[in-house]
Amino acid sequence: MSSQNTPLEKNPADSHAEVIVRMFPSDANPAGNVFGGEILKHIDMVAGIVAQRHSQSNAVTVSMDSVNFIKPVFVGNVLKLNARINYVHNSSMEIEVKAEAEDIVTGIRTVTGTAFVTFVALDKSGRPSHVPRLALKTDEDRKKFEEGKIRMEERLKNRKKSD
Ligand SMILES: CC(C)(COP(=O)(O)OP(=O)(O)OC[C@H]1O[C@@H](n2cnc3c(N)ncnc32)[C@H](O)[C@@H]1OP(=O)(O)O)[C@@H](O)C(=O)NCCC(=O)NCCS
Repeated sequence: MSSQNTPLEKNPADSHAEVIVRMFPSDANPAGNVFGGEILKHIDMVAGIVAQRHSQSNAVTVSMDSVNFIKPVFVGNVLKLNARINYVHNSSMEIEVKAEAEDIVTGIRTVTGTAFVTFVALDKSGRPSHVPRLALKTDEDRKKFEEGKIRMEERLKNRKKSD
């Protein structure tokens, strides 16, 4: 489903995404701690924006790993999610998401979680389709790409195939 104008190469900065959401009582347990699953939903969504921006096609989540909840997020906090593409292969893309919680009264911000999400770009028939290569412009881009490649190889070693 990629458009005819999809370039062969794109910068990680072209697909970067940031999402900000307020946490409400329905997102949390009775003590006010936001559910991990609620945060995962937002991580998946922002990573999906990055994957679709990069591939300019439909893209689906195939794996989520290295999910760490480092600090709690509370009702009333603002959750800020920052997502960037680290690595691409043929149809697969590794997206890194960092989650930060902000107490909007005190202004204190805390990194609350991180995750790596793998998306696969699909064509109109639902088959994996090639995505643009990553144009690595900065030292950080090159470092993230190399680290992403190692993680992807590890992921594929542990991949579960359906019977
Ligand atoms: C995406 C999907 C069509 C891929 O089908 P498949 O038979 O695994 O296809 P392939 O074996 O050809 O793999 C396609 C790509 O996905 C990658 N991939 C598949 N499973 C993966 C996993 N668990 N982790 C990382 N990459 C994975 C492969 O490495 C390959 O990447 P490449 O093209 O860059 O080399 C299929 O897995 C699917 O439909 N999954 C459900 C996705 C979904 O609906 N997610 C939402 C939640 S249910």
